[in-house]
Amino acid sequence: MRTQVGIVGAGPAGLLLGRLLWLQGIESIVIETRSREYVESRVRAGVLEQGTVDILNEAGVGERMRRQGLVHHGIELSFRGRRHRVNMHELTGGRAITVYGQTEVVKDLIGARLDAGAEIFFEVDDVSVHGFDGESPKIRFRWAGEEREITCDFIAGCDGSHGVCRESIPEGALTVYERTYPFGWLGVLAESKPPSEELIYCHHERGFALFSMRSPQITRLYVQCDPHEEISTWPDDRIWGELETRLDAGGDLALKEGPIIQKGVTPMRSFVVEPMQYGRMFLAGDAAHIVPPTGAKGLNLAAADVRSLSRAFGDYYRAGKTEMLERYSQICLRRVWRAEHFSWWMTSLLHRFPDATPFQRRIQLAELEYVANSRAAATALAENYVGLPFTE
Ligand code: FAD
Ligand code: PHB
Repeated sequence: MRTQVGIVGAGPAGLLLGRLLWLQGIESIVIETRSREYVESRVRAGVLEQGTVDILNEAGVGERMRRQGLVHHGIELSFRGRRHRVNMHELTGGRAITVYGQTEVVKDLIGARLDAGAEIFFEVDDVSVHGFDGESPKIRFRWAGEEREITCDFIAGCDGSHGVCRESIPEGALTVYERTYPFGWLGVLAESKPPSEELIYCHHERGFALFSMRSPQITRLYVQCDPHEEISTWPDDRIWGELETRLDAGGDLALKEGPIIQKGVTPMRSFVVEPMQYGRMFLAGDAAHIVPPTGAKGLNLAAADVRSLSRAFGDYYRAGKTEMLERYSQICLRRVWRAEHFSWWMTSLLHRFPDATPFQRRIQLAELEYVANSRAAATALAENYVGLPFTE
């Protein structure tokens, strides 16, 4: 098989890249190790920045998001038994976020791609990438028991944090920047009304908790836990008990219990590789960088990466220009490091660090008080949370 851009991975990065290329008349083939059902039901991100919403709308895949997404103008921070609203809309000159599940973004993108007659090979095995240091890269894999090969002009490594693309780059060509945190998030999806219309981020002496949602009837909840926690040690009663304690709502909010329909533990880490390119292979999304989810940035960074990459490919195929392809990594990494800092900062502000001294805990509370009471500090949080505008 031959195509212009071979895309490894059908997560948000790979699928959105495929869509943005298709709109410019650039051919691609997407391959994915998992089944369609699996990728469409993998519960993850829920918060879309204004810029991500704009990209999805411009890509013609925003119709259901516009109908079902929940537009939020603020978030709440809870600590010391009180809640403080950060009015992001007012602090950022009218910007907002949209709560719309990653599962739904992925379904919309897969539907659009298949409707357009473009290919996705699901359930492939033994994926390997070759020749990207030369003119004619190749992707090999097995599909339906047969060996296959795609010859392409470029490979887009959109295969997430454990994919093969980054791992195939020769040792020494990339620099890795990394930090792991001594905790994880236990995330659940429950059939119950969210306790509030907006997201609540809770700093509590027992640990962090987050109250989010997927719809007015489905709530998405997280509690800080040990990164290697056995899910069996968290029966539903324990989860609801911890959530109730950490919400510490002072009586005005009711946490409604309901059937838990999904549960999982995510360890937390910050990770960046530089550069995000080697020869004719370009990395995008989680394949190149990971943020702890506290800043709600992972999916949004993946969208920003492929926006730049699709423009760079556009320049190349339309006008033979390579300037933007050459600067791809540099363009993305500025935004990536901004998001890395913000996600690290939100994580540091809101979690309980097992080795924190009483002094460090007081410092955390002092910073929370500052964000809650200073317009300048709240503005810094708000402008990062809604997402900075694209500069090129
Ligand atoms: P992925 O979604 O990981 O997609 C990669 C795809 O490649 C997968 O489908 C995988 O199966 C496939 N693949 C892997 N290896 C191969 C191979 N060898 N060959 C072919 N295919 C392969 N981000 C936000 O912006 N906001 C949030 O609110 C948020 N909350 C989160 C909450 C949690 C609990 C978690 C875990 C993450 C959250 N994120 C959030 C992060 C976000 O989900 C990720 O950043 C996003 O999924 C990145 O998309 P991606 O396409 O780069 O990678
Ligand atoms: C989510 O709804 O899944 C979610 C929201 C905000 C975050 C992380 C996850 O910071």
